[in-house]
Amino acid sequence: MAKMKQKTTTLVLTELLKNAKSGEALSGQSLAETIGVSRNAVWKAIKQLQADGYNISATTNLGYLLTQEGTDEKLNAAEIKAYLLNKELQIFVYDEINSTNSTAKKLLLDGVEPPFLVVADSQTAGRGRFGRKFYSPTKTGVYMSLVISPEIKLGSPVTVTAAAAVAVSRAIATLLQKETQIKWVNDVFLDGKKVCGILSEATFDVETSTIKSIVIGIGINLTTSDFPEEISAIAGSVGSTEVSRARVIATITENLLQLTNQTDNIDFLDEYRKKSCVVGKDIYFFCGETRTEAHALGIDEAGGLIVKLLDGTIDVLRSGEITIRVK
Ligand code: BTN
Repeated sequence: MAKMKQKTTTLVLTELLKNAKSGEALSGQSLAETIGVSRNAVWKAIKQLQADGYNISATTNLGYLLTQEGTDEKLNAAEIKAYLLNKELQIFVYDEINSTNSTAKKLLLDGVEPPFLVVADSQTAGRGRFGRKFYSPTKTGVYMSLVISPEIKLGSPVTVTAAAAVAVSRAIATLLQKETQIKWVNDVFLDGKKVCGILSEATFDVETSTIKSIVIGIGINLTTSDFPEEISAIAGSVGSTEVSRARVIATITENLLQLTNQTDNIDFLDEYRKKSCVVGKDIYFFCGETRTEAHALGIDEAGGLIVKLLDGTIDVLRSGEITIRVK
């Protein structure tokens, strides 16, 4: 019974989303006929969706229209799928979990086959690189992990992370007309503030010593404000309520699947280079406790950062952390 109710809600939402752009309302009767349920079931589904935060206007004689996208509705697999080309992609949606990356790894252990997507409205223990936390309050950000198989050509985690940064930048440009910058390797910046972090984690097959899968975790502050003290100087928000989180997630997923499915094409690295706020700058890079001064020369064909050390030696960084030196 509960399953049936859920399904009608999902189907009604999918139809309303399809029609939202045209600006034309759908009558209860036409929704009922398309979905194959009673008008009363449609009405109940509309009430449920409104309670979930969707702005659905109901006009006598005209019907129902999803009037505006917002960021504060609950995530829903049907809505994400409505924007995806790959309708077969398995999507796991949670109200609140510890971390989408940790959950993705657990799902892998349980035998779920990549590719699949894990999303959450909030995370209680969102993880960043080097054991840092990723602030993940409810419904104000995107918290997603896309799990892909290593058969892809872009098998190196640093290349995959670079692809993810480009996928996020493209999505923000397409959906919100905002131009971001990328700080090697995994941070996306807008107007000098970090609005997105990426944490790629590989799982290994111990017997064959090969990468089994790559979990690409992406966190974006969409409308997040009131950051904790320790990150308030650096963290920022994309600051948009015009586009739903589901659409942002779907657009990034689509971009990322497309980028990581390409066999030989690493053209996206040119886009990465253009968006880099590091190339041409004096930097520090960190290896454990050691801080080294260098000049960032460019990005190589695998996404590594080419640096010139003070003694003139050229090196390529494949992992680690950098900061831009302020003179
Ligand atoms: C960083 O800034 O160092 C990386 C942050 C990555 C955060 C995302 S949110 C979704 C996914 N789940 C996690 O626990 N972390 C990543």
